[in-house]
Amino acid sequence: MSHPTNEISDATYAELEQIAARYPEARSGLLPMLHLVQSAQGRITPEGIEACADILGISAADVSGVATFYTMYKRKPVGDYHVGVCTNTLCAVMGGDEIFARLKDHLDVGNDETTADGKVTLEHLECNAACDYAPVVMVNWEFMDNQTPQSAVELVDDLRAGREVTSTRGPRICTWREAERVLAGFPDGRVDEGPAAGPASLVGLGIARERGWSAPSSDEGEPAATGSTADTKTEAVAQADTSRAESETVEEKTE
Ligand code: FES
Repeated sequence: MSHPTNEISDATYAELEQIAARYPEARSGLLPMLHLVQSAQGRITPEGIEACADILGISAADVSGVATFYTMYKRKPVGDYHVGVCTNTLCAVMGGDEIFARLKDHLDVGNDETTADGKVTLEHLECNAACDYAPVVMVNWEFMDNQTPQSAVELVDDLRAGREVTSTRGPRICTWREAERVLAGFPDGRVDEGPAAGPASLVGLGIARERGWSAPSSDEGEPAATGSTADTKTEAVAQADTSRAESETVEEKTE
C-alpha cells in the first residue's frame, strides 16, 4: 500500500480508506475521515489533508476548504479535554459569560487556547442545542448541564487531576481523541450510557400529552386533529395562551 507520507500510519490510512468505502460516493466520507485524522494526530494536519485527498481523488484545497469551514475541525493541537462554554444569548444571560471569564482566569488561557500541561483546551461555543439546561458546558461534546462558575472550575480541576468525570447526563468523559474516533464512526460501546433526553427537554412533550395535542400525520399530509391546519394552529395558540394565563394566576397566588 502506498500513501503520500510516513506521518499518517498505515493503520490510520487503512481506516481512512475503510470510511471512504462506506459511501456510494467516497467523497461523502470526508467529514468522518477528518474526525479520524484528529483522533490520530490531535488536529487536522497537512499530512492528514493530503491522505484524505489522496484516498478520495480530490485536491488538498478541496479537503482544506471543508476542514477550515467547520469549527469542530482544529488546526491547532487540542488538549486531552476540549471544554466548550456556551456563550450564546440564553446561556450568556444565565451565567455562561461569567463561567467563560472565570475559566479563562482560572486556566490562564484565552479563547481557543490550551493549558500549559496540555490537558484542557478552552473555547466559547455558540449554542449547544441544550438551552433548556442553560448555562451549558460541553466536555468533548458531552453535556455538563446547569453549570455555575464554581462547578465549572471544579470540573476542569478534576479533568486536569485525572479524576473520573461523568457528564451530568451519565456518560463517562473520555479524551478528545477518543471522542473524535467515535465521531469518525468507530463506536466505543458507550452509546447507551445515560438517558437520551433529560426531564427539562421533555416538559413540552408532557404538556402535549396531557392536553391531547399531536403532530399532523406524515402519511396523509393532514393534521391528526379534525379541522383545518389553520384552525388547529389557532386552537393550539389559544390553549397555550390559556395555559400561560393559568400559570401566571398560580404564580400570582403563590407570591
Ligand atoms: S444558548 Fe446555550 S445551549 Fe443554546
